[in-house]
Amino acid sequence: MNYKEALQHPVFKIISQSAKELQLESYVIGGFVRDFILKRGNAKDIDIVAIGDGIKLAQQVAKNLPTKTKVQIFKTYGTAMLRYDDIEIEFVGARKESYNEDSRNPAVENGSLEDDQNRRDFTINALALNLNQDAFGDLLDPFNGLADLKNKRIKTPLNPDITYSDDPLRMMRAIRFATQLGFTIEENSLQAITKNNHRIKIITNERIVVELNKILESSVPSIGFLLLEQTGLLNYILPELVALKGIDEVEGQRHKDNFYHTLEVVDNISKNTNNLWLRWAALLHDIGKAPTKKFNKKVGWTFHGHEFEGSKMVFHLFKRLKMPLNDKMKFVQKMVFMSSRPIVLAQDIVTDSAVRRLVFDAGEYVEDLMTLCEADITTKNPKKFQKYHNNFQIVRQKIVEVEERDHVRNFQPPISGEEIMSTFNLQPSKEIGIIKESIKEAILEGDIPNDYEAAFELMLKEGKRLGLTVNP
Ligand code: CTP
Repeated sequence: MNYKEALQHPVFKIISQSAKELQLESYVIGGFVRDFILKRGNAKDIDIVAIGDGIKLAQQVAKNLPTKTKVQIFKTYGTAMLRYDDIEIEFVGARKESYNEDSRNPAVENGSLEDDQNRRDFTINALALNLNQDAFGDLLDPFNGLADLKNKRIKTPLNPDITYSDDPLRMMRAIRFATQLGFTIEENSLQAITKNNHRIKIITNERIVVELNKILESSVPSIGFLLLEQTGLLNYILPELVALKGIDEVEGQRHKDNFYHTLEVVDNISKNTNNLWLRWAALLHDIGKAPTKKFNKKVGWTFHGHEFEGSKMVFHLFKRLKMPLNDKMKFVQKMVFMSSRPIVLAQDIVTDSAVRRLVFDAGEYVEDLMTLCEADITTKNPKKFQKYHNNFQIVRQKIVEVEERDHVRNFQPPISGEEIMSTFNLQPSKEIGIIKESIKEAILEGDIPNDYEAAFELMLKEGKRLGLTVNP
């Protein structure tokens, strides 16, 4: 089989020529070949294997490129990288590897192309295209990776026990590829992942999060989370989600299984947003339910304060996984904290003041919050489903109207503390806070419009009520 058409970019000819000058063989391998055959578009990452010194090949290629190009060398790994035309090209010498038990860093020996293909994670990632001039574009596929691509199968070239134990990150990669590509992980592989799941502990959190993010960015993320749960990996990575599993029953009253509900919410939201952090919010929106769950004889199952508890848990979870503790985390916290607000609205008659308060509290993220809450409707009762969605439509419309009229999204008090102080000749005191709060409340309730005159008038009235005198 020949895939010359995959190698149309001029850089491949340059690599081929450079390898010839060094009397080396060279091949493109891995994701680039896989994604070309799957028609996923041309990948921007190209992996080149040289039979010999990969670093020397990279240097030769840089010399032959039309523009001056810097080669980045990673001596410890025996690899080199250069960028050309917004493509990142990585060079490595073919190797045989044996891994040491406690780390994913391999001890490296030189090897043949087949040795190199052997040590790769999946048959679909071991496909190589020949760059040597006499066989340019020929496919080298010793493990039937092409058939596995056609049959949508994730399979390891070697015994899966060895492949996963060698590099436990591959357990996450298998699940990530299954989710991204809609492939099935072969049974032996699934068993090996389950057996080796504890070895994920030697992988850094940063690398785990890269895979988690790719799962969450897929079109149906639940595929990945179900596999993570089924193989036991989720216990090590996100135990907060595992704790949501199960249905309790007391006196004939049951609550829903919040794990499967969460996965439905994540799939729902993924149809409406590509915002990774909003997808994280969907994944974590109910994590506070496990620690707050109680049974009350009168009202049944309750999860009081789960939103607040959940938003605190978000911080600890991000910290544990070494995720950035920045505005993205704060956004996820805010979404989790506010995740029940619009639902309460949607169950009732939607009043202007309730919508105004929602906009005030959610600020610039009010649309994201609505997207989360719409995804949260997983009721199988068609009447309720329709009612909630209709009410959310009304809420969305009212958000626009209230916004146009009252501008409460990024609320700035129309009267400043300084003005209150000078009007009543006050030193900093609690009266200023009381007056400011009354003005804000009156605006949110809709008793006065959000403008200076109305606020000024209310300030005078409140001052009088508090026994203050106006500065002449
Ligand atoms: N690889 C591996 N084991 C790993 C990581 C990578 O065997 N733990 C091999 C695979 O052959 C893979 C190649 O190295 O195809 C390149 O890895 P990488 O760039 O991380 O992944 P891609 O397969 O290119 O896919 P993606 O860009 O989607 O991550």
